[in-house]
Amino acid sequence: MTTSPPGREVLITGCSSGIGRTVAEGLRDRGYRVFATARQAQDVKSLAGSGFEALQLDVIDSGSVQRAVSEVLEKTGGRLYALFNNAGFGQPGAVEDLRREVLREQFETNLFGAHELIRRVIPVMRTQGYGRIIQNSSVLGLVAMKYRGAYNASKYALEGLSDTLRLELRDTGIHVAIIEPGPVESRFRENAYAAFKRNVDAEKSAHREAYHAMERRLTTDGPVAPFTLPPEAVLKKVIHALESRRPKVRYYVTFPTYLFATLKRLLPHRGLDRVLTGVSRGGSR
Ligand SMILES: NC(=O)c1ccc[n+]([C@@H]2O[C@H](COP(=O)([O-])OP(=O)(O)OC[C@H]3O[C@@H](n4cnc5c(N)ncnc54)[C@H](OP(=O)(O)O)[C@@H]3O)[C@@H](O)[C@H]2O)c1
Repeated sequence: MTTSPPGREVLITGCSSGIGRTVAEGLRDRGYRVFATARQAQDVKSLAGSGFEALQLDVIDSGSVQRAVSEVLEKTGGRLYALFNNAGFGQPGAVEDLRREVLREQFETNLFGAHELIRRVIPVMRTQGYGRIIQNSSVLGLVAMKYRGAYNASKYALEGLSDTLRLELRDTGIHVAIIEPGPVESRFRENAYAAFKRNVDAEKSAHREAYHAMERRLTTDGPVAPFTLPPEAVLKKVIHALESRRPKVRYYVTFPTYLFATLKRLLPHRGLDRVLTGVSRGGSR
């Protein structure tokens, strides 16, 4: 069942492209007051040029997080209905090839930034007596795939944090919902490839043959994974998470998410390993 939201202010991270941009546009069209944020000045400018209330927000920079939230609250008179923690990227590479600082960077973006934002908005939501925190996780927050160790770890951590938060916020009027996309059209692969080139020495790796295949996949134009959906599929779930009186705990997006979430419940660990090893080449994330 859906009802009109009590407030209409939504803060979204990572709106320069992909899911963030589409959700920002879709919610604005639906009448929400969207604070669309991006980390790079030219993207903030482009968002403002498209009529958004646009702000600079780099989730790895505490100062930037603090400034953005303060500015939003100043504009809304201290109110915020919802936070959509969307910003993120995938750091490819075998676990043994990831330097400590590379793993840390993955967590800074995909987990610590989201956590810091949550800490800043919860007091506001508690005072209001309502609010929505929507986390953009991934099918790779539910199951693992080869060469996605950093990303898997950060999204599993986001799942754990969100599950705990939901228990802690019970009966406060603040709902926590987790979105679980599988393959969605965006700049995700392009950004993952850049992170791979930046941080992994492929030629020195025991996995170099597999990396060559992975690089071909990451640099292919257009969808490479079966059942890829446009980002509007995520928008639909975000709208439900915002407008339902009782949002779901998890929103599966794409067939691979439904499939792997189900297989995880049904199969023994090693059975699931066999399936996941087979599809690792496909590229669900
Ligand atoms: N596309 C998929 O198949 C898929 C599947 C499952 C989950 N997801 C999740 O969906 C979310 C959005 O990804 P996407 O698919 O839309 O990919 P995308 O097009 O690459 O968008 C990622 C967004 O996150 C931003 N970002 C990265 N680091 C940031 C930082 N430090 N501070 C602020 N923003 C930052 C990017 O900004 P820049 O342009 O500045 O880099 C960009 O706006 C991510 O959390 C991703 O894990 C995506």
